[in-house]
Amino acid sequence: MPIIKFLKEKKEIEVPQGAWLREEAVKAGINLNCGVNGIGASINKFVNCQSMGTCGTCRVLIKKGMENTNPMTLREKFKFKVPVPEPVPVCLMFIGHEKEMRLACMTQVNGDIEVESSPEFNLFGVNFFS
Ligand code: FES
Repeated sequence: MPIIKFLKEKKEIEVPQGAWLREEAVKAGINLNCGVNGIGASINKFVNCQSMGTCGTCRVLIKKGMENTNPMTLREKFKFKVPVPEPVPVCLMFIGHEKEMRLACMTQVNGDIEVESSPEFNLFGVNFFS
């Protein structure tokens, strides 16, 4: 059975083949709906799209094992690549994380993965002013 390692939470869980990442995190008591840089995490835990792939609050980085997940879904591609007016457009958060960012609710786990919850959002980029 696949193992999901949550890096920030320092927790590992074993899940059935093909399990949904967000669903398994909720069962394990881990909140992946973290808002922007953790701001709003306590609200987003309850106020989210309930795994419809539309709110974008369950963004995670798959640090290892992306090959053990399903291909990016159409909803994720829309959310990450189409600039939609929102308080903070999710497509901006995707920049620089194209190979590792997923929506947890749209991610199926088929093998071992390592997950970073609540990816940092740096609007100006690391080296913007240097
Ligand atoms: S819970 Fe809303 S996009 Fe995943």
